[in-house]
Amino acid sequence: MPAELSPIDKAKFVAARRAVDFVMPGMKVGLGTGSTAAWMVRCLGERVREEGLKIVGVPTSTRTAELARQVGITVVSLDEAKWLDLTIDGADEFDQQLALIKGGGAALLQEKIVATASDQMIVIADAAKEVAQLGAFPLPVEVIPFGWQTTKALIEETLVSMDVMSREVTLRMNGDHPLITDEANYIMDLHLKRIGNPRQLALVLNQIPGVVENGLFIDICDIVVIGHPDGLVTVRDINAGAEHDDRVEFAATDNIFADLAD
Ligand code: A5P
Repeated sequence: MPAELSPIDKAKFVAARRAVDFVMPGMKVGLGTGSTAAWMVRCLGERVREEGLKIVGVPTSTRTAELARQVGITVVSLDEAKWLDLTIDGADEFDQQLALIKGGGAALLQEKIVATASDQMIVIADAAKEVAQLGAFPLPVEVIPFGWQTTKALIEETLVSMDVMSREVTLRMNGDHPLITDEANYIMDLHLKRIGNPRQLALVLNQIPGVVENGLFIDICDIVVIGHPDGLVTVRDINAGAEHDDRVEFAATDNIFADLAD
């Protein structure tokens, strides 16, 4: 029941619900990963089941693929879809230019490939994700396991000449072992506190041989839908330079709340 949702989950839910209004029949849709994206997948599944909306979804992680199938969305691979109309995903941070930090859920590689292969990317977020400058959230960087300690040292060396406030780099763990991504890689978290030049940092990190991809999404996101716990949603379109507010009503009997597992 919506009344049992935390304020943050209400904010995520209303952003997700508003964002799925952008999905039209026949679309090929990239399905993001994370707790906000999970709401979006449930909302989209509801449209598929209740309206008979015909779409296909390209998931950005094994867990999103599993959820999408559970809620009735036809799942295809990116190679089958080739190019997408729209991707909807969460973010860890976004700024005024809609530059993003992503990868808190370790899915940044597939997320970036899928979002880049889409005509449009919509980010869904609660208001706390908006920042004046990126970097308070540790920047995830996916690296190959081979020689990871050398790659870590090279990242640290690279950061010396970058406009950042802090330079600690940590290997993301899953219990006693390094966390393994869907692509069988590791994640380094770069604790930078403030990123002065995200575009430059994104380019420079990707020059390091062991780096597969970084979690900075620059010039990829077109629209952000910001949810608030009271049902208010703000839709900001960076290309149109426009912003407007909407309201999403909670339905107490909504089936979507029957399954709160993420
Ligand atoms: C997954 O790797 C991430 O990019 C997520 O999209 C991001 O961490 C946002 O997740 P939440 O919606 O759970 O905050």
